[in-house]
Amino acid sequence: MLLEGKTILITGVRNKWSIAWGIAEAAAKFGANLIFTSQTARECEETRRLVSSIGDYEVYELDVSSDEAIEKLFETLKQRSVRLDGVVHAIAGAKAGDLHADFLYTSREGFASAMDISVYSLVALCRAALPLMNEGGSIITLSYLGSERVVPGYNVMGVAKAALEASVRYLAHDMGPKGVRVNAISAGPIKTAAARGIQNFSSLLNMISEKAPLRRGVTAADIGNTGVFLLSDLAGGITGEVLYVDSGFNIMAI
Ligand SMILES: NC(=O)c1ccc[n+]([C@@H]2O[C@H](COP(=O)([O-])OP(=O)(O)OC[C@H]3O[C@@H](n4cnc5c(N)ncnc54)[C@H](O)[C@@H]3O)[C@@H](O)[C@H]2O)c1
Repeated sequence: MLLEGKTILITGVRNKWSIAWGIAEAAAKFGANLIFTSQTARECEETRRLVSSIGDYEVYELDVSSDEAIEKLFETLKQRSVRLDGVVHAIAGAKAGDLHADFLYTSREGFASAMDISVYSLVALCRAALPLMNEGGSIITLSYLGSERVVPGYNVMGVAKAALEASVRYLAHDMGPKGVRVNAISAGPIKTAAARGIQNFSSLLNMISEKAPLRRGVTAADIGNTGVFLLSDLAGGITGEVLYVDSGFNIMAI
């Protein structure tokens, strides 16, 4: 029970295919007490339905593009005397048009929006969560190889993931002295609602099965297990890292 006695806030559950849900299931299995946020009232309903299968946990609505919404959530948690040992940031968003044309044609608004939803939200969540976090706390976010290699079609999300990974390092620097670790998991491709926006996504899935050392794709459960490790005291000496969970695909040149 690696996470027994720990309270983890999990963002980004949209449905049962969400990576955040894979992390939630693993964290519950390893004894964590969970608190959930989902973006909209409708997603909250779906999350409540899913959550009822693993435990009796609160689900709050949170749109990370709103500073007031973030402030309101953490004020509510504070009033309920919640102390946090972990936060899972599993949120990304880009405008569909910017994922369908070449990166060269990314709009100014689309660039700013992808950065706001996919990167700044981590900074804002870390800042808001810090006063509620216990010594030894752990924050994790989700990245992808498109941050450092060109994955055609990943476009502005690749640039956002590069900024996200850099943010992980700066946040790790700032939060380390306060006893909080910040890391990213770079996940291999998994069929989720967000992935549906990426062109030729099925070719990424085929490539990992054919070329990765393990010759298989990864699942949300694989990410969940690594998430449990990073949230647990076993990873107490790790911060500012990007940990690949992609069947080893990132080491390959071809
Ligand atoms: N699926 C993959 O292949 C893959 C690979 C590597 C990394 N990731 C990353 O994993 C994370 C989770 O994505 P997923 O693949 O599970 O897809 P998903 O669609 O299930 O989850 C994305 C989540 O982001 C949330 N979101 C978007 N805008 C938001 C906002 N303004 N406020 C609050 N929440 C918002 C959505 O509600 C959704 O819950 C993302 O950061 C994604 O980039 C996914």
